[in-house]
Amino acid sequence: MRILVTGGAGFIGSHIVDAYINEGHEVFVLDNLSTGKRENINPKAVFYHADIRDDLILLFKEINPDVINHHAAQIYVRASVEDPCFDAEVNIIGTINLVDAGLKSGIKKFILASSGAIYGEQEYYPADEAHPSVPLSPYGVAKLTCEKYLHYYKYNFGLDYTALRYSNVYGPRQNHLGESGVIAIFINKLLKDEQPVIHGDGSQMRDYVFVDDVVAANIKALEPNISGEFNISTGAETSVNELYDNIAVIIGKDITAYHGIEKKGDLKRSCLLYKKAKEILGWSPTVSLPDGLKNTVEWFSKKFYNGFHN
Ligand SMILES: NC(=O)c1ccc[n+]([C@@H]2O[C@H](COP(=O)([O-])OP(=O)(O)OC[C@H]3O[C@@H](n4cnc5c(N)ncnc54)[C@H](O)[C@@H]3O)[C@@H](O)[C@H]2O)c1
Repeated sequence: MRILVTGGAGFIGSHIVDAYINEGHEVFVLDNLSTGKRENINPKAVFYHADIRDDLILLFKEINPDVINHHAAQIYVRASVEDPCFDAEVNIIGTINLVDAGLKSGIKKFILASSGAIYGEQEYYPADEAHPSVPLSPYGVAKLTCEKYLHYYKYNFGLDYTALRYSNVYGPRQNHLGESGVIAIFINKLLKDEQPVIHGDGSQMRDYVFVDDVVAANIKALEPNISGEFNISTGAETSVNELYDNIAVIIGKDITAYHGIEKKGDLKRSCLLYKKAKEILGWSPTVSLPDGLKNTVEWFSKKFYNGFHN
């Protein structure tokens, strides 16, 4: 298949590009490199340095993709709270622009990187896909809006789509200098012997899913005739305090984290049920948190600290 991966220079998108290429697909990457890195882009992919808000009609005629896998986004919840217009321009208008250009060039499927943020504070745990969607940040509102647009395009134009609602994704290549990606941030602070900040009291519960499992879901999502929304998660909850302690033990550092102020828009507890993905996509997570954390620590220590970590 000819697959266009937007955000293919970023953390999750670049792993998906690698996997699609390994599966024998022809892969095209569209990325504006705002947070992504050129070094992440698989040399076997064709790279277009462009923005999802550009006029893409001519470019899409040239690429002629069968599938668009859309991972480019403004990814920060706090930034979406501070500048909701920018968030909406990239995450909503940018997505509509892609679907519109894709339909004109004859795509058969659209895969969206959605988020558990669409549920807001949950009424029950873990949330299934039928849980009420009451997002509490512009970022979550934007992801939900994109899902609704995809439903509209499916209903009116027959475009198949798969919206993958990720819980918290972690693993190699995650940006450790951004405002999210708590695992990458903790690991890098500890490897530098610096004191990490935990926002709030650290009792926030999260569902951490390893990037290789997320990639496997994106391979399953290529199946034709499967449309709809799927949680991609582990269904297991870990507090930020517990997560920090686990990472500190793996790295072998005895540094107490500093507790800072809570972040606006952050959820207190988030945990998603992946039963639907298991039943319909045949997908389940396979990497345990301890194994995923060890793998991620190894990657960061090799990449930035000559393999040294204790
Ligand atoms: N990391 C997570 O835990 C998580 C959870 C839920 C959903 N998601 C979603 O997964 C996707 C990928 O996230 P990530 O963690 O890999 O982030 P990332 O920042 O590493 O990747 C995003 C990529 O999109 C590119 N990009 C941003 N704005 C663009 C634009 N206007 N035009 C073209 N390219 C643009 C960036 O340069 C970057 O390469 C995003 O849609 C994000 O919302 C991530």
